[in-house]
Amino acid sequence: MSLGVCYYPEHWPEDWWERDAARMMALGIRHVRIGEFAWSRLEPARGVFDFGWLDRAMDVLAAAGLKIVLGTPTATPPRWLIDDYPGILPVDERGRNRGFGSRRHYSFSSKDWWRESRRIVEVLADRYGHHPGLAGWQTDNEYGCHGTTFSYGPEDLSAFREWLRQHYQSAEQLNEAWGSVFWSTELSGFDAVSLPNLTVTEANPAARMDYWRFLSSQIATYDRMQCEIIRSRSPGRWITHNFMGFTNDFDHWAVGDNLDFASWDSYPIGFVEKFPFTEEERNRWAETSHPDLAPFHHDLYRGVGKGRFWVMEQQPGPVNWAPWNPVPKPGMVRLWTLEAMAHGAEVVSYFRWRQSPFAQEQMHAGLNLPGLQELSPGGREAEQAAQDLILLGTPGETARAPVALLYDYESWWSTRIQPHGQDFRSEELAFRWYESVRRLGLDVDFVRPGADLAGYSLVLVPGLVHASDDACRALEAAKGVVLYGPRAGSRDRNFRIPENLPPGPLAGLTGVRLREVASLRPGLSVAVQGAVGGRMIRWREHLEARDADVLSTFPDASPALTARGNQHYLAGWPDEDLLNATMRLLVDKAGLDATPLPAQVRLRRRGNLTYAFNYGPEVWEVPEGADVVLGGTFLGPQEVAVWRTDCDAVAPRKEASR
Ligand code: GAL
Repeated sequence: MSLGVCYYPEHWPEDWWERDAARMMALGIRHVRIGEFAWSRLEPARGVFDFGWLDRAMDVLAAAGLKIVLGTPTATPPRWLIDDYPGILPVDERGRNRGFGSRRHYSFSSKDWWRESRRIVEVLADRYGHHPGLAGWQTDNEYGCHGTTFSYGPEDLSAFREWLRQHYQSAEQLNEAWGSVFWSTELSGFDAVSLPNLTVTEANPAARMDYWRFLSSQIATYDRMQCEIIRSRSPGRWITHNFMGFTNDFDHWAVGDNLDFASWDSYPIGFVEKFPFTEEERNRWAETSHPDLAPFHHDLYRGVGKGRFWVMEQQPGPVNWAPWNPVPKPGMVRLWTLEAMAHGAEVVSYFRWRQSPFAQEQMHAGLNLPGLQELSPGGREAEQAAQDLILLGTPGETARAPVALLYDYESWWSTRIQPHGQDFRSEELAFRWYESVRRLGLDVDFVRPGADLAGYSLVLVPGLVHASDDACRALEAAKGVVLYGPRAGSRDRNFRIPENLPPGPLAGLTGVRLREVASLRPGLSVAVQGAVGGRMIRWREHLEARDADVLSTFPDASPALTARGNQHYLAGWPDEDLLNATMRLLVDKAGLDATPLPAQVRLRRRGNLTYAFNYGPEVWEVPEGADVVLGGTFLGPQEVAVWRTDCDAVAPRKEASR
């Protein structure tokens, strides 16, 4: 468990490097990530390489004792390369080129781009793959960020046609799968396929879904290409990729398959503006972040990384890219760092060592003030976090959590393609369910649909629009309490309503059948009463409980929450009261010990330690008798407490303050 930092030696005079490296070490940093945007400095013109500066930078960093993470520079194709192959540029949904001048300006379908990517990755892997200071590699930078999963150019079209040819073999099968008889969109062959943009009104949802799958699969294949080159030329070094939070446009599970572990870029305050919170929530969490935002991603990427993850970029102060960019409250940078560790992070690496006084990210804080050898407030907190880590010693294993949350990227795409209600977003639903179960003090693992669910007492399935055979098998075998959310099993792979009506392949398990759905505009809601009460907002389903017990109902007596053995179905988007009551009921049914927490406090266990984090202004008392090893028995605002876990002690002393 250690700290890292993102460093750009090419941004600073060479005679600063040694001092920077020594100061990193003195601060407690042990890993340094470099190089991911440095293509124009490494190859200023085609075939003309300037490795000298990177050779020297790596030697200086390694000599100071730092372990190096080298990024492949493919997020930033240089000007000369775009001039050579303008077809590399991605095309937006309106058919316009996305131009040179920032980053990620490439289409994953471009053959020239693949060749050029291979070339630069091979060159770098050969040059640095055996460097004694090199710990591992980062492929590219934040796939999909800035909407770059998508491109609608001529090469995207031909690659998509090829993908369809392989999947459907004949135009008849394609027409059948897409239901192209509708609006006379039948095609005579694959060469007649067009991209699902620039249509007069909505394009066929099955076609859009396939396009999305195709784009997503290209990213995984592109990443695999880079990984294969690195593995063969840089043996013994690990490979990761830094995923960006709330970038659900491609399947992260599939990219995770290529990697030794996952990493992600944690900007807890920036995300407050990015996520669809209410204005009240945004104001409340503006300077601390919401207490589940970073944890949600830690748990997701621990899953994507098959149990291993890093935070590759940690916000160290204000960012520059949100509509408003407050300074984090004192203590938050340290809190986020320790919190990541509590969720199982191996390394937390800050973005960036020093604030840049020039170019696009001038207003983005670093651990040092712009252009100076002087720590910023965030830098001083990182220094403190390094001391805390020494005090806490070697962390224990991250145990399997009692709760599993099924996280499915295709569900996000489905509800984007066909929202039916403007505010139905599966990612948001998953986040709310996560928040609710974490308010009960429970730890959560994210699992991929189809993964084995053995050992989980509670399995949450907030969004699973298309339930694959594998997913159904795993859910059937689950011994714990299972909860499905709205739209489960509501489409088959071809985006059709299942013949037996939703929840389609889950009908036998859940014992319910869906007749009708209603999306509810803001202000409309429907009461729910029974074993759990509250209201459905945004979305409400009309269910028949054919072979299930009805636990709660709507005023028209139709089922709102049903149970068939351990399998439960919730027929809508619950408001906070209904969601919290449902979680509580199922947590109790699953035999789990709940620790109800106030909105601003969260717990997380790792090894034999329990960590508590306070995101709010009120003090919280740690459990009576807790053997506190860090912090005190009164957890103040922005503070962290850690105690040795003693199961009997995990009930809070008092009714938690709200
Ligand atoms: C990340 C990106 C970094 C930097 C950072 C600023 O998304 O990977 O290069 O731009 O954001 O917050």
